[in-house]
Amino acid sequence: MARDRRREPGRGGPTRRQLLLGGAVAGAGAAVAAGADALTRPGVAPPSAPEPLAGAGTVPFHGTHQAGIATAPQAHATLVALDLHEVTDRDALRRMMRLLSDDAARLTQGVAALADSEPELALVPANLTVTFGFGPELVRRALTGSAAAPSWLRALPAFTVDRLEAAWSAGDLLLQIAADDPVTVAHAQRMLLKDTRSFATVRWTQPGFRRARGSEASGTTMRNLFGQVDGTVNLEPGTADFEDLVWVRDGWLAGGTSLVLRRIRMDLDTWDRLDRGGREQSVGRTLSNGAPLTGTHEHDEPDFEATTAIGFPVIAEFSHLRRARSEDTGQRIYRRAYNYDDAPTGGEVSNSGLLFISYQADVDAQFVPLQQRLDELDLLNEWTTPVGSAVFAIPPGCAEGGYVGETVLA
Ligand code: HEM
Repeated sequence: MARDRRREPGRGGPTRRQLLLGGAVAGAGAAVAAGADALTRPGVAPPSAPEPLAGAGTVPFHGTHQAGIATAPQAHATLVALDLHEVTDRDALRRMMRLLSDDAARLTQGVAALADSEPELALVPANLTVTFGFGPELVRRALTGSAAAPSWLRALPAFTVDRLEAAWSAGDLLLQIAADDPVTVAHAQRMLLKDTRSFATVRWTQPGFRRARGSEASGTTMRNLFGQVDGTVNLEPGTADFEDLVWVRDGWLAGGTSLVLRRIRMDLDTWDRLDRGGREQSVGRTLSNGAPLTGTHEHDEPDFEATTAIGFPVIAEFSHLRRARSEDTGQRIYRRAYNYDDAPTGGEVSNSGLLFISYQADVDAQFVPLQQRLDELDLLNEWTTPVGSAVFAIPPGCAEGGYVGETVLA
């Protein structure tokens, strides 16, 4: 059983090494700031101006909500699900979450974790976030008294499009580790997993990516591997709709949310056979800039009434755009997807797809009806197959000195 290191005498504060490493990051940040200042002053030549480094960026770990949800999506994310050991009881869960929260609080700020075996790798936080999710079994073991599990915390209902594999589905504890640098993600993953060893074993690991930071202006909507602009119509962090539809209001999960992961294989080999017009019809948007087929700019409102010269809807009835939009505005979700690209397994050129990740206050009220609509009709289903599925409760964030999960484990 792992020890609760936060309680050891003399281990409360940062070690000399962490202070040194922390200082190095702060120093790098100051140098970047000084360089930026020199660049903006007129008449000051920038020959020795240091390159601005995205690696120095940090996202606060502590707060009302966990980071990594409303955070602008980083370029890389790895989702890891773990299965709890039989013996991991409520007390052990508390110890585990204390340890993991402590690791995440340090690593996300560019400070080595306690007993970090490669402390130099912690020096580039690159906007690292670590988001913890609890599966049904973890919550079952954590609950006491009158606290209850949310009714939606269970496997999704079966959909006809599903071809689910256990290897990509379910799990008791989720780690969503995201950063703008894949080395940072790998290091954080290893440090966190080392501290889970006494409590759980890895069930699956799913790495995903978007464009590298700096390749496009920040805020550019991502493209998936079909080449589509994906994420145009989405809840926007900071808006009242996001507050209402993403965060849970009551109980131990208040300030938290739910995460639905659907691993969706995208058959690029058969997609290749479809002409550009067909590809655009399948979604109802152009490939060039993601504008609706009735508009010119990405964020133009689609005109669902518009018809072609021979009377067919311009945005087809079977299009993903039409099918994914419910008339019930309560059935909206926050999508934060990543591409995946694995080694082909047999004959095909690609084994690629989407780690479709959505957050919503209530899975049954928001995600399920949407997925049911798409299950009934969506031309995209011709080229996409869900092969993995998981649902997690995402507890609220914690304050400094606290830990994620304390609202149910304390
Ligand atoms: C590999 C599978 C998928 C692909 C390639 C895909 C692709 C797209 C694209 C290109 C758009 C249009 C641009 C945008 O507004 O983002 C879109 C919109 C959307 N998709 Fe998907 N999608 C997939 C799966 C799903 C799933 C599983 C759901 C939910 C169950 C979903 C829900 C939505 C929603 C809500 C919209 C916005 C619709 C609106 O305009 O109101 N998508 N998707």
